[in-house]
Amino acid sequence: MPAIPIKTHTLFEKCHIHVADTVLLPSLFTMITPQTIQQITNRIDIIDVVGEFVKLKKRGSNYLGLCPFHGEKSPSFTVSPAKEIYKCFGCGRSGNAIGFLMEHEKYTYVEAMRWLAGRYNVEIEETEVSNEVKIAQQAAESLHIINSFAQKFFTGQLFDSDDGKAIALSYLEERGFKEEITRKFQLGYNPAYGNLFAKAAVAQQYNPELLVKSGLVASRDNGLVDNYRGRIIFPIHNNTGKIIGFGARVIGKAEKAPKYINTPENEIYVKSKILYGSYFARQAIDRADECLLVEGYTDVISLHQAGIENVVASGGTSLTVDQLRIVKKYTDNLTIIYDGDKAGVKAALRGLDMALEESLNVKLVLIPDNEDPDSYVNKVGAAEFKQFVADNRKDFILFQLEVMLQDAGDDVTKKSQVVNQVAETISKIDRAEDFTRRQDYINKCAGLLRIDETGLTTLVNKYKRDRVGKDEKRSRVEDTGVAEADAPDTTGHPDETSLLLNEDYPQEKNILHVLLEYGLNLWDEERTMAQYIFDELEQFDFNSPALLALYNEYRRQYEEGAEPTAKTLLYHPDEQVRNTVVTVTMVAYELSQRWDEKLENMNILNRDTSHQDVLMSVNFFKLRKIKKMFEENQRNMTTNKPLPELMKLIEIHNHLKTVEREITKQLGSVIVK
Ligand code: GTP
Ligand code: MN
Repeated sequence: MPAIPIKTHTLFEKCHIHVADTVLLPSLFTMITPQTIQQITNRIDIIDVVGEFVKLKKRGSNYLGLCPFHGEKSPSFTVSPAKEIYKCFGCGRSGNAIGFLMEHEKYTYVEAMRWLAGRYNVEIEETEVSNEVKIAQQAAESLHIINSFAQKFFTGQLFDSDDGKAIALSYLEERGFKEEITRKFQLGYNPAYGNLFAKAAVAQQYNPELLVKSGLVASRDNGLVDNYRGRIIFPIHNNTGKIIGFGARVIGKAEKAPKYINTPENEIYVKSKILYGSYFARQAIDRADECLLVEGYTDVISLHQAGIENVVASGGTSLTVDQLRIVKKYTDNLTIIYDGDKAGVKAALRGLDMALEESLNVKLVLIPDNEDPDSYVNKVGAAEFKQFVADNRKDFILFQLEVMLQDAGDDVTKKSQVVNQVAETISKIDRAEDFTRRQDYINKCAGLLRIDETGLTTLVNKYKRDRVGKDEKRSRVEDTGVAEADAPDTTGHPDETSLLLNEDYPQEKNILHVLLEYGLNLWDEERTMAQYIFDELEQFDFNSPALLALYNEYRRQYEEGAEPTAKTLLYHPDEQVRNTVVTVTMVAYELSQRWDEKLENMNILNRDTSHQDVLMSVNFFKLRKIKKMFEENQRNMTTNKPLPELMKLIEIHNHLKTVEREITKQLGSVIVK
């Protein structure tokens, strides 16, 4: 296909090809060759690359350091030269050398390649981009020029034609838009009759094919006709102020035709990447370190007129990742201002998870009384509007949680759904640098939900793993083109949640904690602590599948003589095992309140508490389990049973009572000893 000339006689003269001005910037029309990329990746030494930014110490076959992605005092950031990967067992970040540079230095892939090429003295070979890419770039440039012409034409019609003044300008004035703001946003008008724009464009010899592509005209038997007739025209600018498309609004009520018509997707108008108003908002967003997000063009313009300039619009559809990334370039703080009706809230909530994944701090403001930001600012004025936003900013996650909790009331099933929902939402705050923020949300939400904080952490991690798993699966599907059959789609975690809401989790976790910590120490002359724990717990079950798996794995290795510890299990091939080790060892184990206080008094001498820790962990574990058996047994007794069976139950009852008394006594004696 030949290049399309923008005008029939001028061919692409306007676009100057820029040669790269720094080493890190790729030149406009070239690409690094695959051979160069191969050479670079062959020479990468991950210890050398990561070591440039992180102080690493050798530990066995790996290197260990303080994680550069989250604040930590003891090192859990591990680099494996053999696997050529890094992984932080604290925050979960992992990847290869290129990924590290992209993450740590915020490089693009190409920039990372150039950095590595510099380090390993690889000469970069570049090729010209393909012909198709070049043609697309030429078409893009031409479309910009056509749009610019069109904007001038429409603005002229609005301010200078009789029709424009009488019909369009008066409508805009009636809505409160002053001339200054109308000019700033380069609003325009296209008359309803006469195909005036098409005629003007043809007279200027613009290429008909491109004119159609721009969406401004349509091709009919009798020639080109205007697409936007009798409408107000809102030009849409990209970040550098070039016009990439238009929104065209009917004047007055939209009864027969759609309210807005937009430019069709083309080389420069990519709907998912457009934030209306971003060009005019950039500096204000910078100053305020906050971006306000509204739905409509008129919302943006009215707020500007009121002096609130850090505002962009999504254009009435749900937010896309690309849009959020544009916001993220300017600020971390996104405040969504939507209508307070059900639809508005829903629309806002839809953007939430993605925004979290982009690690934006999201706040929500709902405009009351069926108003939108445009009508509301016109009604109450700039000062009151600002005050309203300041007073009604709600943290998005907590807002969502409150709404759901109110909804759930005392219903246990619903509450468990809420727990899952919240865990899933929090799991999307996944960036390494967001570690503290995620912990903060876990803490706050666990408080609101009245559940165990470490349990919520586990659930959040589980959702995180699921997603990673799904992503991996997806990329496998993309690689091979074949989906793997019948892998279950885990969308909820009823088992984990029910554990959270009523569970033996802290006691079970304590066992694993002491097992990993002291298991290889001696309990007495004959047994290790691990052996003691195995003996004592023979009769009991774990509720948590993850903890049970780790317990069994420890036991298997122990019995094979492998001397397992937290450190060795941290590198277990099974990811679930690794993650459970992290959960168990990372957080201090929970002692009962009473135990804790007593121990504090006893611990002043800083002596070895391993015996006590093991004994207490085992006893509290048993006590918890026995209490449950007790309850179960009692439930059985209340149902009608034949006498022999009842006698048996009473016997069990008494036995449990005795055991319980013994354990309590033992605990008591340890505590007061
Ligand atoms: P006014 O009603 O003039 O205040 O415009 P508005 O921007 O407030 O419109 P509204 O709140 O109805 O819609 C918000 C945004 O959704 C608009 O700015 C458009 O971007 C988009 N939109 C609304 N209606 C349509 C439509 O019929 N077609 C398309 N493509 N987009 C629409
Ligand atoms: Mn509106």
